[in-house]
Amino acid sequence: MNKETIILKTIDFVKETLSGAEGGHDWWHVYRVWKLSKHIAEIENVDIFIVELGALLHDIADSKFHNGDEEIGPNKATTFLQSLKVPEGIITHVENIIANISFKGGNYTQTFQSPELEVIQDADRLDAMGAMGIARSFSFGGFKQNEFHDPEKKPNLNMSVEEDKKKNGTIINHFYEKLLLLKDRMNTNTGKSMAKHRHNFMEEYLNEFYKEWEGKV
Ligand code: ADP
Ligand code: NI
Repeated sequence: MNKETIILKTIDFVKETLSGAEGGHDWWHVYRVWKLSKHIAEIENVDIFIVELGALLHDIADSKFHNGDEEIGPNKATTFLQSLKVPEGIITHVENIIANISFKGGNYTQTFQSPELEVIQDADRLDAMGAMGIARSFSFGGFKQNEFHDPEKKPNLNMSVEEDKKKNGTIINHFYEKLLLLKDRMNTNTGKSMAKHRHNFMEEYLNEFYKEWEGKV
């Protein structure tokens, strides 16, 4: 099977697996991360086939929706790629990408690193920023029935992995706990420059938000 066919079959598999998924983690999130990854990969020196497979499969089974099971995503991707007879070396690389991509709070150490992972990680983080990041946060916070703002609740800037997993803070605090920190966590130069643009947009949004909260505009 050639690479193009493998990518097309992977797209079908992801669309089918994620049908009915919550708005922030659906096929369209994967689509945006895939497009962003390809865009960043054009400039970086990476294996584009691995980048595409990793991006398409990175959220195939998020542990949040599978009782915290961190193995299910990588395993599902591996079984699928084996069924297409993708070479073992590529499968192992993609499996490592999926297992290591997620932002797990401040004190988590990543155990695997590769230029391809760096590209997809940047793309995944970019989709949590800017206009898209704002939309996803409100969608995810709504899904968790979290309130969107309470001026008396301050952001928790030293969140442990366990606290982060609960995801029960206000949506505006999530900006300070995660979204506004992302621009300094980018790996690639392309990612950094795109992050700066999306970061500025979020700051502008927050300025507007506080003015409206106090009825000033
Ligand atoms: P990813 O799937 O990109 O690794 P997450 O699973 O952590 O990211 O979060 C998915 C989306 O939901 C992101 O856009 C993220 O900013 C948002 N999100 C995560 N936690 C919260 C929260 N506590 N409140 C609001 N939005 C959140
Ligand atoms: Ni993702």
